[in-house]
Amino acid sequence: MEGKVKRITTRTLAEMKARREPIAMLTAYDYTFARLLDEAGIEVLLVGDSASNVIAGHETTLPITLDQMIYHGSAVVRAAQRALVVVDMPFGSYQGDSRQALRAAIRIMKESGAHAVKLEGGEAVLDSVQRIVSAGIPVMGHLGLTPQSIYQFGGYRVRAKDPTEAEKLRRDAALLAEAGIFALVLEKVPASLAQEVTESLPIPTIGIGAGPHCDGQVLVLHDMLGLTEAFSPRFLRRYVHLAKIVREAAERYIQDVKRRDFPSAAESYE
Ligand code: KIV
Repeated sequence: MEGKVKRITTRTLAEMKARREPIAMLTAYDYTFARLLDEAGIEVLLVGDSASNVIAGHETTLPITLDQMIYHGSAVVRAAQRALVVVDMPFGSYQGDSRQALRAAIRIMKESGAHAVKLEGGEAVLDSVQRIVSAGIPVMGHLGLTPQSIYQFGGYRVRAKDPTEAEKLRRDAALLAEAGIFALVLEKVPASLAQEVTESLPIPTIGIGAGPHCDGQVLVLHDMLGLTEAFSPRFLRRYVHLAKIVREAAERYIQDVKRRDFPSAAESYE
């Protein structure tokens, strides 16, 4: 059909890895921003459970629910004409019973219209990954700093710096790839380890704080737009200081209202 945009698929991402073309992924949680990112040419939109932080204002990603992820996912899906939309499985929806994990993944796919799901962890969640993949649902993995385990980690430090944790990450990555995930997020790990894992895996890696050698990169939208001023990790590049722009616009509006400058006659009806 004329004018129809060709959708990015998991296969497109595999082809991009094969020809060493970097994959650009950003998070999105609502229709308006997702539409702008899709128009800009982003390849993957991740409906991250970071919505729990940047949208709902929680300290961690743990409180967000399956219903809330589906709500955000469906708004992003309505906006994305070209991008592959991946929805995070929230904490508690896949860690226990793999049947429950499959039910949650099916709800995400059916009710949001997403194209894939993402979940955190390696060997411990392998049963869930296998069951979801067997049902024909594409799964993105996530290793390294996995924010749903923040209370176990005790902080947001770089992960897998010591040889034991690095070895576990290599093993988890290989197990997840064998189980059929289509891509793997590596968060806050040494660049040399991310490079090694990227070169050893047949599937694309997407890094956040994992150096330049991953097959793609991801940032949280609100961070790269400069809306989360207090968050300043070394890996974050801000492309605009939107917080300042929004504050200044609001201040000008308030001033205009207070001095009865807004609305003008031209902005009113006869
Ligand atoms: O929830 C999220 O935003 C994520 C990214 C940081 C990868 O998982």
